[in-house]
Amino acid sequence: MRALEAVQPLHLRYPELGTAPVPIEPYISPEYFAREKRHIFKKVWQHVARVEEFPNPGDFLSVELPASDASIVVTRGHDGAFHAMHNVCSHRMNKVVYDERGNTRKLYCKFHGWSYDLAGRLVGVPSEGSFFDLDRAACALAPVAVDTWQGFVFVNTDPEPAMTLAEYLGPMYAALEGYPFHKLTSCYSWQTVVNANWKLAIDAFQETYHVAFVHGPSIAAALRRDKGGSIVPIDGLCDDYHRRLSIAGNPKSVYGNPKAVMEAAGDAPASSGRPIADAALRLGRNGMKTTFDDSDRPPGLNWTNDPDWAFDINVVFPDFYLSLRPNYMQAYNFRPISHNQTLFDARVYYPEMTTAGGRLYQEYMKVALRDVLLEDLSTLERTQAGCETRAKSHMQLQEHEVMVRHNAWVVDRMIREGEARER
Ligand code: FES
Ligand SMILES: [Fe+2]
Repeated sequence: MRALEAVQPLHLRYPELGTAPVPIEPYISPEYFAREKRHIFKKVWQHVARVEEFPNPGDFLSVELPASDASIVVTRGHDGAFHAMHNVCSHRMNKVVYDERGNTRKLYCKFHGWSYDLAGRLVGVPSEGSFFDLDRAACALAPVAVDTWQGFVFVNTDPEPAMTLAEYLGPMYAALEGYPFHKLTSCYSWQTVVNANWKLAIDAFQETYHVAFVHGPSIAAALRRDKGGSIVPIDGLCDDYHRRLSIAGNPKSVYGNPKAVMEAAGDAPASSGRPIADAALRLGRNGMKTTFDDSDRPPGLNWTNDPDWAFDINVVFPDFYLSLRPNYMQAYNFRPISHNQTLFDARVYYPEMTTAGGRLYQEYMKVALRDVLLEDLSTLERTQAGCETRAKSHMQLQEHEVMVRHNAWVVDRMIREGEARER
């Protein structure tokens, strides 16, 4: 990321992104999606899980990556190391693992009983003598690169990744070091398939322009407004792939003041005008195992030191959205299925609650966030349908939709670079 210069307009800081209207063809074209698959999704590191999902040796997880034309199994070996491999049997290509997750000593193919160890080595072949010079080593499951960052498990289906995960994450790699990711072990999740392009879907989560309208009745009052009454981000940072946006809250609101739930019991928190929200917040105070103070804040979080800071949005290109707050985090994947279908895989991580009141607070926040997410999802399929009418060829983007512009720019640049390499 480039060093932050004092409040510079984003379009001047990132002149390479330009200011022109952005074409919508990449959001509706099956041909463009095929180029994205070839030059992006089959090349880059993709987030698939948290390490806490593999507490024991033998724990495994299977994940479908349609944009990489891949089905992957991730295992944890007896030495604690992670392994990833294609979920394709070396005999006649059946899927070896059918379940989404579980624990096992070996991976058994249900078609003819071939078995593999946790690292994918072929260890059992029924009637092996009937084969012709079977080379067991060559019949291991095809390996997939796997690595972790801050407890997030990433895979790369490129047989020879051009970059390590650390190189790919670049400046983001160290910027968030120190955030208590490992303490946020209480997770809930939702999954749904949205009939919209993956870029269009993630774009709806990486700007604040929509908040006053889509979230008018719910959380719009929780974000800080500028003098003109607009909700604008504190700052944004873009690099070659990834991007970050920092958002300020309205400190007088329950949602916009993330410290409200963590302040010492005593004073009643600011009233939201919603009795149930206020009660949940009161019950939640001091009900969490971990608290977070400014000494836990890594340099990449609230990097402008804004006193009203509420949360940051981090987008690890291409499809991993990581929103970090003082007391919880949201980790979403917008996994492409086709040019106009996306799996929205939303996970929210809290610290363990230590009191019944804490659990009630957590449940309340879960339902509140669900409703906000439904508001976000409400525009996506309509927007996709609008794009597909081709009534308009370009979208108009303003200064504070820079993340949307950056997403389109990175995708297009990677396709052009990939095609140039192949020529
Ligand atoms: S396809 Fe797996 S054992 Fe035959
Ligand atoms: Fe939203």
